[in-house]
This record gives sequence, C-alpha cells and structure tokens, in this order.
Amino acid sequence: MSKNNVGLPVDGSKRVVEQLNKHLANLHVLYTKLHNYHWNVEGRGFFTIHAKLEELYDGVAEEIDAVAERILMLGERPLASMADYLKYAELEEAPSEAIQSDELAKVLLKDFQTLINNLRAGIEVAQEVGDEVTVDMMIGSLSNLEKSVWMLDAFLK
Ligand SMILES: [Fe+2]
Repeated sequence: MSKNNVGLPVDGSKRVVEQLNKHLANLHVLYTKLHNYHWNVEGRGFFTIHAKLEELYDGVAEEIDAVAERILMLGERPLASMADYLKYAELEEAPSEAIQSDELAKVLLKDFQTLINNLRAGIEVAQEVGDEVTVDMMIGSLSNLEKSVWMLDAFLK
C-alpha cells in the first residue's frame, strides 16, 4: 500500500480529501453569504448582526486556509476556483438583496446544520483512515458550528 508524505495510505487520504474539498466548497459559499448578509441586513438588530457576521466570516476565512493547506499536506490539491466551489458545495448562495435579521438567521441555522452533518460524515471517513489531524481539525470546526447553532436558535426564540 503506497503512503504519502505524512505516512497515510494514499487511497485513504484521497477519500479524506473528497470530504475536505466538499467542506472547502461549502465554506466559500458561506464566506460570500456572510458578507452578503453583513452588507444587506436591515431593520432591528442591525448593529449587532452586522458586527456578528463580520466575526463569523473572519473565522471562516481562517478555516478556509487551514482546510486547503491540510489537503496539500495530504498530497492532494484543494479546489481553488469559484466554479468548482459552486459545483461541489451543498450550500446555496443568497440573492443580492435586503434581508431582515430573523430571515438570515433561519437560513444560516439551516446552513450550519448542513455543515455539521457533512463534518460528521467526514470525521467518520478520517477516523477509518487513521488521519487524527484531520479528525481533530474537523472536530474543532464542528464545535464552533454547534455553538453557532445554539446562538442562532436562541436569537430566533
Ligand atoms: Fe464591513
């Protein structure tokens, strides 16, 4: 069985990278969507939501880089074009129009739940392959997403 530079089986890492690339594609759609809402949110709670969305997209930007570089460490190539991100992402873009805070919170809650489900599937694959570093990275992301889901849910109540 051939191994890559970090001692993991090449075939197994390719399966892990499929999961990571899907996550990367979703993160790019999310990154753009968070900017969209940061700019286009209107109504009550504007100041709080506007600032919170900036905090969220800054976090996503860091994660995007970490995920892409993990893929390179595994000896594969990260998706790196908008066309690829839109093709592989499960998340959908939002239209360029005004939106109320409740409305965007509902969409983001659903998107975060999609990311959570994908990450759980990704963790399973990475565990099978024995790729602890990717497991660790995905658990870190999962933990942040679960916190955001709780906050969005609390906001919507
Ligand atoms: Fe801004």
